[in-house]
Amino acid sequence: MKVMEIPQELSQELPQELLTGNNVIDEQHKEFFARLNMLYNDKDNFMSDKKEMLIYLAYAEIYTMEHFLYEEDLMEEKNYPEIENHRKAHRHLYKKVEDFRKSVEKTELTFEKICEFYDMFLYWLKSDIVSHDMKLAEFLNRNITKVIEK
Ligand SMILES: [Fe+2]
Ligand SMILES: [Fe+2]
Repeated sequence: MKVMEIPQELSQELPQELLTGNNVIDEQHKEFFARLNMLYNDKDNFMSDKKEMLIYLAYAEIYTMEHFLYEEDLMEEKNYPEIENHRKAHRHLYKKVEDFRKSVEKTELTFEKICEFYDMFLYWLKSDIVSHDMKLAEFLNRNITKVIEK
């Protein structure tokens, strides 16, 4: 049997280098990390109860959508010029979460499957933060500074 190593990220909460500087966005990202930790720590329970895993995934879908809509509303409100690219990245990640939930509905739930979700979600979450959220937070901070300077 394959023994999985606990990924580095699990030994900590949201890594410092992934903080965007926008408190609300950072708090929401911390929640994603906390939920992923929960999945990994309770993997035995989830594996023995597919219904629990499906509830977990349904929550992940809702939370992901809520977070993305929060960022997208902000982008719209502030006329963020890169909104379309960022929105596209969100749709892509959301679709992955949705597809994963559907695939769990159809197949047997295994440890590998849980790890697959964990890795996929962590990868896309980090990639959205690094490629898009950082830029957005920087833009928002610049906007706040401009308002204060006026
Ligand atoms: Fe984002
Ligand atoms: Fe985000």
